[in-house]
Amino acid sequence: MILVVGSKGMLGQELMALLGSGARGVDIEEIDITDLSSVQRVLLTLKPRVVVNAAAYTNVDGCETETELALQVNGEGVAHLAMISKEIGAKLVQVSTDYVFDGGKGSPYLEDDPTAPLSIYGESKLAGEMNARFNPDHLVVRTQWLYGHAGKNFVETMLRLGGERSEVSVVDDQIGSPTWTYDLALAIKALIEKGCRGTYHAANSGFVSWNAFAREIFRLAGLDVKVNPISTAEFGLPAARPLYSTLDCGKLAQETGFVPQPWQQALKRYLELRAAKRP
Ligand SMILES: NC(=O)c1ccc[n+]([C@@H]2O[C@H](COP(=O)([O-])OP(=O)(O)OC[C@H]3O[C@@H](n4cnc5c(N)ncnc54)[C@H](OP(=O)(O)O)[C@@H]3O)[C@@H](O)[C@H]2O)c1
Repeated sequence: MILVVGSKGMLGQELMALLGSGARGVDIEEIDITDLSSVQRVLLTLKPRVVVNAAAYTNVDGCETETELALQVNGEGVAHLAMISKEIGAKLVQVSTDYVFDGGKGSPYLEDDPTAPLSIYGESKLAGEMNARFNPDHLVVRTQWLYGHAGKNFVETMLRLGGERSEVSVVDDQIGSPTWTYDLALAIKALIEKGCRGTYHAANSGFVSWNAFAREIFRLAGLDVKVNPISTAEFGLPAARPLYSTLDCGKLAQETGFVPQPWQQALKRYLELRAAKRP
């Protein structure tokens, strides 16, 4: 059985839907990953073959003030999962982020490129990566710019704003690959099925600025919204973000045969499914 920790989160729900009866989900009501005894109780009782950790403290700007909580959930929590998964002979899959990089490389990041997080969130997720490696049978899967049907995300924010306003300002100097949780879930499934170990990058292919991504969302949704460019500095969020942090996903493709679809195609499909679900 595959245990999805954080099963009520955006990625967690996607994993549960994809893995079906082969999976069991737990979230904060059943497991608190910051509490070793809670992790022990759940893992020793359920004895999964694989633990996928989709639980995290994901408020990037909130991490700047709630530093201790961020490090507890994203760092120590993963150490607990690594320790106990190792004890029961289970694989640990840890989901991580492009924010472990500083965005200064100028070309897509490879798995073994040096990390240099710019924010507390990035630091806490890097601590999680290191802690996951306590279990030799681990996968660290870095992804970026996630959106999915079950969570707060950029696509949903733009669609909401597009219904309320005729103009929005969106940063045009951060480049990345918007990634649909469905494609990330497929990548994780493929990595588990192939018995891979180590660090992998998984994101939809191609790259774009947040500004151009917003314009594509409005175009596909048929919303007439003017998207003004604004710089990251002008926007002024508390946490620093990498400006160019696309992930090279060649290793994933080479070792599993799975190639995530282009971001434009994924977004189109996401919006079609979203429209079909609405009355
Ligand atoms: N979202 C992105 O753009 C993005 C980009 C790159 C990487 N990632 C990574 O992808 C993974 C999934 O992200 P997501 O956006 O799906 O996250 P999410 O929607 O915020 O879900 C995280 C889940 O973890 C739960 N949780 C929080 N603290 C916990 C604890 N101490 N013990 C057990 N469960 C706890 C949360 O419960 P509550 O809601 O009750 O707190 C929530 O259900 C994370 O590792 C994240 O760092 C995300």
